[in-house]
Amino acid sequence: MSAQPEILVHTEASVMTITINRLEKKNSITAAMYSTLADTLSSAANDATVRVVVIQGHELIFSAGNDIKDFLSVPPDNSDAPVFRFLRALSGFAKPLVAAVCGPAVGIGTTLLLHCDLVYAGDNAAFSMPFVNLGLCPEAASSLLVPQLMGHQRAAEALLLGEPFTAETALEVGLINRIVPPAEANALAQMQAHKLAAKPLSSLLETKRLMKLGNSQLIAGRIAEESSSFGRMLREPAAREAFTAFVEKRRPDFTTL
Ligand code: COA
Repeated sequence: MSAQPEILVHTEASVMTITINRLEKKNSITAAMYSTLADTLSSAANDATVRVVVIQGHELIFSAGNDIKDFLSVPPDNSDAPVFRFLRALSGFAKPLVAAVCGPAVGIGTTLLLHCDLVYAGDNAAFSMPFVNLGLCPEAASSLLVPQLMGHQRAAEALLLGEPFTAETALEVGLINRIVPPAEANALAQMQAHKLAAKPLSSLLETKRLMKLGNSQLIAGRIAEESSSFGRMLREPAAREAFTAFVEKRRPDFTTL
């Protein structure tokens, strides 16, 4: 029996649904999965039968972020690395993007939501961006978009301290649209995606383009700048210590770094 794909893709009535499906590793995302995600978004962008894309995880876990072991063994080493290709495909995606998020959304599990147009969360959703705790820096233009969303001081709690925040906080700051019981989040995202898919695509595309006009070049520039720092920092001692500690299931020791 063949293993289930770690990224599931299903298109129905012009709505493409992408499901992160690696439950045994808490939906953490490997380079191979980033590649599939990037290719899937690129093909959705060029496929006239796809009008809206939904990204979802599982009722108990959205994503534990980058697969730390995979990053340790194959760190992304240039701007064409799968994770950076995915971020460009996501942030530049012209059609509407809808997300359903339940359970932990760690690192890129939270930052990818900054590029979605509608986000529906289960009341068990828990958001965190612990890049500093891993000896890294923000990605996905989160160093730009999180302060824009929350203001500098609250962004500092999330990005400098790496403190998690709840679905209620995410709703209050505008990262998500609505909180529902976890069992209803995927269905609500589907319902809203199908509403969007019934609208004129040309109007959706133009409206999204105009909504992002002031920010889109800034976002692209910030992703490039962050990617270069992130790629360098992955190889530096703090990240090596954090990642090794994760693999060895111990607390990292940054006291000499
Ligand atoms: N990369 C690689 N493996 C991961 C992972 C990640 N980001 N997150 C979880 N896993 C693996 C664990 O190593 C464990 O594997 P094992 O069964 O072979 O030991 C398995 O997934 C289950 O994880 P566990 O921590 O036991 O689950 P949990 O329900 O107690 O906690 C999380 C879930 C998401 C809160 C927790 O796994 C976590 O904090 N993960 C790390 C998140 C992180 O720092 N991501 C990087 C962001 S840049």
